This record gives sequence, C-alpha cells and structure tokens, in this order.
Amino acid sequence: MFRRLWKFYSLILLIVINSCGISSAQFSTDLFYKEPANDNLGDVVQFLREYDREASDTCNRIATAEWKYATNATDFNRRRMKEQQNLASKFECISWRRASRYDTSRILENNLRRQLDRIVYQGKCGLGDEKHLEITHVITMMKDNYNQVRVCPYRAGQTNLYSDGHNITSYHAYCDLRLEPDLTSIMERSRNERELKYAWTEFREKVGPPNRNTFMRYIDLANQAAVQHGFRDAGEQMREVYEDPDFFFTVQDLWTQVQPLYKQLFSFVRKGLYIKYGDNVLRSDGPIPAHILGNMWGQNWRNIIDIIKPHLETPDITGEMIKQGYTPTKIFQVAEEFFTSLGLPPMSPEFWRNSIIQKPNDVYTQCAASAWDFCNLLDFRIKQCTQISLEDFINSHHEMTHIHYYMQYTTQPFIYRDSPNPAFHEAVAHAIALNVGGPVHLQKIGLLSSPISASNGNSMINIEYLLNVALDKLPFMAFSLTVEKWRWYVFEKGPVGMNSRWWDLRLRFQGIIPPDVRTSQHFDAGAKYHVISDQDYIKYFVATILQFQIYAELCSAANHIGPLHTCDFYRSREAGRLLSDFMQRGASLSSSQLIKLITRGKTSRLSVDPLLEFFRPLEAWLESQNRDESIIGWSSNMDDVQLFQYIGFNHATDNLNLRLNKLLTIICSMLILKLM
Ligand SMILES: *[C@@H]1O[C@H](CO)[C@@H](O)[C@H](O)[C@H]1NC(C)=O
Ligand SMILES: *[C@@H]1O[C@H](CO)[C@@H](O)[C@H](O)[C@H]1NC(C)=O
Ligand SMILES: [Zn+2]
Repeated sequence: MFRRLWKFYSLILLIVINSCGISSAQFSTDLFYKEPANDNLGDVVQFLREYDREASDTCNRIATAEWKYATNATDFNRRRMKEQQNLASKFECISWRRASRYDTSRILENNLRRQLDRIVYQGKCGLGDEKHLEITHVITMMKDNYNQVRVCPYRAGQTNLYSDGHNITSYHAYCDLRLEPDLTSIMERSRNERELKYAWTEFREKVGPPNRNTFMRYIDLANQAAVQHGFRDAGEQMREVYEDPDFFFTVQDLWTQVQPLYKQLFSFVRKGLYIKYGDNVLRSDGPIPAHILGNMWGQNWRNIIDIIKPHLETPDITGEMIKQGYTPTKIFQVAEEFFTSLGLPPMSPEFWRNSIIQKPNDVYTQCAASAWDFCNLLDFRIKQCTQISLEDFINSHHEMTHIHYYMQYTTQPFIYRDSPNPAFHEAVAHAIALNVGGPVHLQKIGLLSSPISASNGNSMINIEYLLNVALDKLPFMAFSLTVEKWRWYVFEKGPVGMNSRWWDLRLRFQGIIPPDVRTSQHFDAGAKYHVISDQDYIKYFVATILQFQIYAELCSAANHIGPLHTCDFYRSREAGRLLSDFMQRGASLSSSQLIKLITRGKTSRLSVDPLLEFFRPLEAWLESQNRDESIIGWSSNMDDVQLFQYIGFNHATDNLNLRLNKLLTIICSMLILKLM
C-alpha cells in the first residue's frame, strides 16, 4: 500500500519536477548523487601539469586552424577548423570531468585552488555529452541563421515586388543586402528617415523571429548546465568571472553615477535630431527612436556628430596621414615605437613575418581586426585590413596592446594566460587607444599642427574630441548594461514577455524606444550577435570604466599635470613599468587584487571617478548648450510604452503564462523544502 502510494506521489513529483524545467537538474545533482571527492595534493599538481601541456597544444592547433580559415575562407579550411573545434570541445569536457573530482573547498593551497576553480566553473560540460552536443548545435544554428540574413534594398524592396510574384528568382537575387557591410553602412550614412526605419525593421524581421524558439531552448539548456556547475542559473554562472558576489548591483550603482553625464549628452543629441527630423519622428522632451542614431543597435552615436554639431572644426588627421605617405607598415611601425618608448619590447620577427596587416587581394579574408595568441609562447599575430585613416591608426595600437598583454603573461601557466576577466584585456587596449587618439599625442607625433596645450584644454578642438569619445563610449555603456541585464533577467525568470522586457530596459537605461510597434513574436535582443552566440557582453561596460581608471594611473605614473584628457604618457618609462608589471600577472591575481596593483593601493574596486574627470570639460560645455532644454533626460508617455507593452491576445496569454509560472515556482520551492 505504502509503496503504491509512494509510486503515485513519485509520478506527481516527476510531472511537477519536469514542469519546473530548470530545477529538474538540481534534483539530480544535489539530492540523488554525489561524486566521491579527492583532495590529494600530489594528484592535483600532476593533473594541472598535464592540463597545462595538453591545453596549450589544443589551443595552438585550434588557433592555427582558425587563422587559416580567417585568412583563407575555403570549405576545406572551414572543415578543418570545425574538426579542431570539436576536438577542443572534447578536451574541455574531459578536463572538466577530471577537475571536478577534486573537492576544491578542501584544497588550502590558494594557487592550486584558483587554477582548479577556473577549469571547473566555466563552460557547459556538466550537461553530459548528449545535451552538450545539443546546446553546441543550438548555438551554431542561431549563428548560421544570423549570418544568412539578407534584406531587400529599400526602394526595390517595396511591396509592389512582393505582390508581383512573377519572377521570384530575380527578386531574391536582388535581395542581397547583408548586415556587413550594407545595412551597417545605411544605418551610419543615410539621413532618410524612412530608409533608416526600413533597414532597422527589416533586419529585425529577418533575424529575430526565426531564432526565437531556438533561443528559448538555449536558455533552458544553459540554465541546466549552470546548475550542474553549481550555480542558480546561467546568469549567475556568467557573472562568476567578475569575482564579485554583488556584481549584479555593482554595475547598476556604477551606471547611476554616470547617468547625469549621459543625460546631458542624450539631451544635446536629441536637440540636434529634433531640429533635423522634427515632430513626426520624435518629441523634443521624449525618448529617441532607435533608428536615427547612426547605428543598427543605437549603441554608438559617433556617426551622427555632423547632425548634432553642424560646424565641425576637427582637423583632418586622415588627410594628414595620406599627405605624409603613411602605409599599413608605417602605421604598425609607429605603433611598435609607441610601446618601445615605454620600455616594452619590440614585436618579434615571427610577428612581422606572419601578421596580415593589409587586405590581400587573392584570397577571401575576414577583415575584422583581431590579435592572436598561438599559445606556444612565441607566435603572436595581428590580422587587420588596415586603411590609411585615424581610426585604423588607433586600431593598430589597440590590437598591439593585446599582443603585448599576451607576451607579458607567457611566464604564467596556461590557465592564467589571460586577464582575470575579459574586461581587462579590452580595457588596457582602450586605455592605450585613448592616449594615442588624443590631440596632444597626435600633435607630438606630427599629425596635428594646431597648437594644443594643457592650458587651453577647453578649446573647440578639445570639446569636439571629447564629444567624439563620449558619443562612442557613453551610449555603449548604457547599451551593454541593457543587453546583459536583460539576459540575466531572462535566465532568472524565463522567456515569458522577453521582448517587452528588452524595450523596458532600453527605455530605462538608454532613453530609446522602437520606431514601430513590437510584439511578443519579435525577438529584438536577438538582433545582437553576442546574445544568440552565447558571448559575455557586460565586459564592455566594465572595460569602459576600467579603461579610464588604467589611463588615469598611467598618466599619474607619467607625472601628468592638467586636465586628464590632455595627458600623453608616450616615452614614460614609469608608465611602461606599471603597464608591464600588471600585465605580467595574467589571471593569477583576482580582479580586485589587480585593480589594487594598478591603482597602487588606492582602491581595489571599479570606480567611475576617472571617467567623470575625463569628461568634465565636456559636461560643463553640454550644460551650457542644454540651458534651454525643458528636460535633461527624457519623459516617456503612454504612447511610448504601448509600442512594446503589447496589448490584446498576446498580452493575455503572456499574463496567463506568467501566473502559471508563478504557481509552479511556488509548488517547486515547496517541494524542494520538503525534500531537504
Ligand atoms: C587556401 O586554402 C587552400 C585549401 O583549401 C589551399 O590549397 C590554398 O593554397 C590556400 N591559399 C593560400 C593563399 O594560402
Ligand atoms: C527572371 O529574371 C531573371 C533575371 O532577370 C531571368 O534570367 C529569368 O529568365 C526570369 N525568369 C522568368 C520565369 O521570367
Ligand atoms: Zn580588443
């Protein structure tokens, strides 16, 4: 009798557990199964030694295969790359299984524990082979969909061709606009509001809905993996690398401190856009529609500087470079000299032999600039289709900073050959870029002739320079925070209502609304590649803050006096010493230990003070420009919100789902309590 009853209850239990979705994995690990732990130090040391050797080899083979494909995109090279990626993924899971046998809480040697932890918390190997294969497949599918998106041109893409229908072949042959370079370029350059709206909407129509259901499966699997790795959900797993238990709130606090400056910039930009596009497109005190900001995601507003500041006085650096006969090689030599002037080593002969710094015309090359570590301690390369322009001049320094970082931490074991979290690598590269793109440095190396000095740091060239940097970085902070907050939310609460949640956050942090009505069938966050390809995004937010902290410290090491943006630490051995000193540590220190080292003991936390200091002259200027604005920031009304708080049928089902979900959550948590 009892057994039968128990069987009945088990059945109910199973049904409920299954409906709990994510929680089912928790039951299997925590309650029913426990690995025998091993804390033999000799074993750990032996394992880590083997791991170091094999991981370096694997990494070298995968980098080699990826480089081949990136520089010569043939089918053969693609297959070879996939093979290596599969082998690497197998190795990762074998290592994970071996590493997770050790009970790290009982290993008192800090360094060994840290190394093991870095192997154990990452990845999704805890899913087991079958589901691991599935999630890999799911992500690949979404990436393939994304890359295959093609959009019809604006004029020809009008409905008359749709309804024509006679010649589908020629219609499809015509519809071949890709995100890169076609749509990107339209979003940057077109000043035709209807064309912009078309490109914005059509891209999302093609890229979002087809991936929506697959993305939901991804959320489910990623959460299951996270639970197997000891986390509540996949968001918590993604935050782990930042080594801050309050990270969720830390980033929000940091943004709150930047927001007043952002709102000044926002109001100034809106004023310009309002003058240009008028009442039919936006209100003079409202949020800004996403399609007129010069970028597909509204994440970078640099491209509309001509709209918001019609009489630019910025000197033509690119023209000056061309006049002086700059070549890609010369650009990289100048970058190399920047680092040797700080006392860092020159690039190796291998670097010069193997790097690709201009677009070869015989093979198909992926042109996005990147810096490569071949994991054998001597082969480092840059791939960049360098144009003679200020932008690529800055990019070359940025990429070469990554190479220096790789070179500096070669003394570390493989698992530490990285920065403690992905933000540091980007932050250092941006700190260097900030320095070499500034008017003071450009003048010092003869690319800018107008007199700039610390005393006239408020001159128009300086303001335009700061405005450019602000348009580049501040909206990107708000955007990266939005992307990651949204993803954390979806991992925690599930996909119900995820599209209106997306716009809710965009309005709150960025002051941006969609140009048209959105429904629950849209999947607008999925228009960002990092979202569907399972890549961290908050690193960009953290890196923006950190780059100003690093820049300010390098400046102070170089004894800079005057406004922060007029600093140039070129030729400062002291700045170079600080730089190589902290780059050498790799990931062997935690992020807070590393910040403490960089700031020479002043703080171990992220701080926005240097960022705010950098922009202070611009902030004062913006305040005076915005004197007559009725509101600094935005006020949203019902019409704005109704664009994405979809009403009617969808809304009702969402509400029902929400209630069902809540009920299930309650039942689930009751059950968990009972079982414990
Ligand atoms: C590109 O890869 C193919 C193999 O798919 C190879 O035969 C060819 O030589 C490569 N081309 C260059 C320029 O490396
Ligand atoms: C459709 O258009 C293409 C290119 O313009 C042409 O080659 C093809 O013959 C046309 N097909 C039909 C069925 O009209
Ligand atoms: Zn970079």
